[in-house]
Amino acid sequence: MQAVSVRASMRGAILTRDSLLADSIINEVQSLCIIEAVEREPEQILARLADGQFHALFVHVQTEGEDQAFGLAEQVRRVHPDLHVLMVGDTGNPKQILRSLRLDAADYLSQETGKRHFLHALKRIAGIEENSRNGFIYSLFSHKGGQGVTSLSINVADQIFQIAGGKVLLLDLNLYLGGTGAALNMVPDFTPYEVLRDFSRIDEELLFSAIFRHARGFYLLPAPVEVSDADRVNREQLTSMLAMLKKYFTHIVIDLPHDFTGRTLAAVEASDCTLLVMEPELLAVKSAQQVLFFFQELNYGENRIRLVLNRKDSSSTLQPEDVEAVMQQPLFATIVNDRKTMSRASRKGEVLAIAHHNRPVTTDIRKLTSSLIGIDSKGAAADKKIFAFLRKLWS
Ligand SMILES: Nc1ncnc2c1ncn2[C@@H]1O[C@H](COP(=O)(O)OP(=O)(O)O)[C@@H](O)[C@H]1O
Ligand SMILES: [Mg+2]
Repeated sequence: MQAVSVRASMRGAILTRDSLLADSIINEVQSLCIIEAVEREPEQILARLADGQFHALFVHVQTEGEDQAFGLAEQVRRVHPDLHVLMVGDTGNPKQILRSLRLDAADYLSQETGKRHFLHALKRIAGIEENSRNGFIYSLFSHKGGQGVTSLSINVADQIFQIAGGKVLLLDLNLYLGGTGAALNMVPDFTPYEVLRDFSRIDEELLFSAIFRHARGFYLLPAPVEVSDADRVNREQLTSMLAMLKKYFTHIVIDLPHDFTGRTLAAVEASDCTLLVMEPELLAVKSAQQVLFFFQELNYGENRIRLVLNRKDSSSTLQPEDVEAVMQQPLFATIVNDRKTMSRASRKGEVLAIAHHNRPVTTDIRKLTSSLIGIDSKGAAADKKIFAFLRKLWS
């Protein structure tokens, strides 16, 4: 019970014209924070803040009067720098999120989901971390372009969600030439990198309101549209960003660029498993061999680097056994060559499992995914029950 006495020690204020919102904040945070002032006008709030020691201020931002709300928040940030300002929007509005970050607000919360997020945000501010998840990271890589890294990443992410449920994120690290957004037929109007750079101030609410969710159920963090955004993410930020994302996602699938920049290496380092993708073609296999040696030299560990032969074809000179002999490592998975199906799906901006779920190429990717997450997807009844249970647990 000691925790309770520590928790009830904050004092807070709210600016809103919405008494229902005020009531829900008051009720939700009461174990941690006593709300001593609820005001409708910015001047009234400023007056209240002047006469007491407050720790947190919730500022309701409505589209109408948005500038006024942000104006107040800015004033408060300067005059009372120790006070935590939490912006509360009616929906997860990207412009408001960015504006909140720029003004160094402690958080931006949207009312949309109806979850108990006010308390969660305050706990974070007070340094009372809640138990967090520790998701898996799987990355896909090839040094040579055009081996199918993007196509496989998309479909592996989709399959993980279909098999295991949970919160699955497809992360496109091709910061200059991202392909996942285009391959899935979606142009995000807001690139979350800008938000993610400020990872230390991001919580679950903000994260999920900023990240696009595909109709199939997995989340997608596409590459930034503007090239300049890419340069703002360095190796250290990427490492911290992945550590943060692991807390919120059960599985993260990374579509890696074909380079050896610090960002790429940081992602491989953070991955539970990296799939090295190659086609059965001499130059591609040679390049993969060099990559494997390089990763081994960096001590990434053999069992964390797995080999995937994509576009397997009975007519190609190099057969799976040959590739294994060259690589001196067994293949983790093989994916059959099926140009027609692949290009049909990508033309439509769809994942394979929608219109092509019975094609061998789709089955191969499903098998690869099952091995990756260590779950047999053949669908025994018992498994289905477990998946249903897992889904509930993670949703
Ligand atoms: N198993 C496959 N069978 C046939 N074509 C494939 C297969 N995997 C990928 N492709 C095709 O290869 C091309 C390159 O794939 P992509 O995923 O963009 O590669 P990368 O991201 O490695 O550059 C695309 O046209 C894609 O449709
Ligand atoms: Mg690609």
